[in-house]
Amino acid sequence: MSFPVHRPRRLRRSENLRALVRETPLAPGDLIYPMFVCPGKNVRTEIASMPGIYQQSVDRFVEECRQVEQLGIAGIILFGLPEKKDERGSEAWAADAPVQRAAAAVKKAKLDFLVATDVCLCEYTSHGHCGVVEENQVLNDPTLELLAQTALSHARAGADLVAPSDMMDGRVGAIRRSLDQNGFADVAILAYSAKYCSAFYGPFREAAESAPQFGDRRSYQMDPANAREALREVRLDLEEGADMVMVKPALPYLDVLRAVRRAVTVPVGAYNVSGEYSMVKAAARNGWLDEKRAVLEILTGIRRAGADFILTYHAKDAARWLAG
Ligand code: PBG
Repeated sequence: MSFPVHRPRRLRRSENLRALVRETPLAPGDLIYPMFVCPGKNVRTEIASMPGIYQQSVDRFVEECRQVEQLGIAGIILFGLPEKKDERGSEAWAADAPVQRAAAAVKKAKLDFLVATDVCLCEYTSHGHCGVVEENQVLNDPTLELLAQTALSHARAGADLVAPSDMMDGRVGAIRRSLDQNGFADVAILAYSAKYCSAFYGPFREAAESAPQFGDRRSYQMDPANAREALREVRLDLEEGADMVMVKPALPYLDVLRAVRRAVTVPVGAYNVSGEYSMVKAAARNGWLDEKRAVLEILTGIRRAGADFILTYHAKDAARWLAG
């Protein structure tokens, strides 16, 4: 039996009905806000390609964190800019580098949200790659120890979650061992498991000053054409001890997100990355898109595809809009 008995529009007649039958919830508590911290005092520099997002010193960062808390956002993920870059990226694990100071400052201010840290070397290395480089090759195994040391320094500073984004093989296991051996068995690992080699990281590299100085990241980040391989990466990260996994970017990989959601029982995150943010911002500034509607539709779509939570630069705006 079909029309005229069946009329799906009956359940769309009023907002009360639509709310009753809505399948996919979206709330500020599903969102994680990425933030960039830099050295110095009273620094707050807007990133040209990411309107509304700033590189800021720890003092100014804490001010913004108070807003994040009030908006009911689940947490933040921290990225850092070092004072000086070197071959090995040694400021990545320095106890007094911006990320470590920022994590400690959130805890000291007793702010009530989660602190995740991005664990990678590319912001800290002079060559801009995510690992140790020799003869223009990014070496896997020698990088693991540096990543483990970095994650440990974040845990010491108070991070609740560490999120390795480097895509070296074996890094989750190396980080888990180092955390466990040093008394941080309770610090969780959010693995960037299926991280693709994407053009959509462009604006981030301006924000984090982390563009590779030679070559590209294709020898470690995933080929955008591969979906089955994402499941393999996820499985390996879970075997090594990942507590949660992530797909990144989000929009061009919603099929991957759905496949991962079906394949695992752990929480799955998606990273709505810088380029995805900048596209919406640029179109909205030109009056080509209604920013609020576009953002809420994008975030709902990412949730519907299977993400339990979303890392997004839209988090503060979305939280305001969701509050009404
Ligand atoms: C570090 C890292 C990157 C992003 C998150 N962690 C950049 C990259 O891999 O080049 C991208 C985030 C974004 O574009 O918003 N490896």
